Amino acid sequence: MNRTLLISAIMAASITSAIGQSDPIAARRDTMKAIAKANGDVGKISKGEAPFKLETVQAALKVMAEGSKAMPGLYPETAKAGGETRALPKIWDAKADFNAQWEKFGKDAMEAAAKITDEASFKAAYGAVVKNCDGCHDVYRAPKS
Ligand code: HEC
Repeated sequence: MNRTLLISAIMAASITSAIGQSDPIAARRDTMKAIAKANGDVGKISKGEAPFKLETVQAALKVMAEGSKAMPGLYPETAKAGGETRALPKIWDAKADFNAQWEKFGKDAMEAAAKITDEASFKAAYGAVVKNCDGCHDVYRAPKS
């Protein structure tokens, strides 16, 4: 990992944990938004709207792997409701499965990062990572009201 990536990963992790203690709902939404932004940058490459750039893909996978580590800690009993959240109560009834899905998402992101070295390997390996998004949302996130 290069130095800039390492520093930004450490900063992201410490900011997440600092905010997470005072406002877990805001922290998990911000983390989710950061993951979605990273995925959006990669989506442009997938759609041919941006040229393939290994750096963009690897940075996105890193945001996903780091974010997924922080996520289970951002759903404490005290943050089921209040604020604007689309997290379904089911999360707290099935915490082990919910946390396992974050672990799988993080693991898939890291495995993809190890496999992706060029555009062909990107096309082959990235899909497995983003399958996790809807897989979790379908069960644990309320539809848009
Ligand atoms: C293991 C479960 C899980 C995975 C995996 C997951 N999400 Fe989410 N996501 C959630 C939950 C739960 C919420 C609702 C959080 C809340 O409102 O408190 C959410 C919220 C969001 C939001 C709304 C953020 C906001 O509040 O504005 C976006 C965008 C999003 N996810 C995108 C993604 C993308 C893109 C991926 C995959 C690259 C992904 N998510 C993977 C569970 C997941």
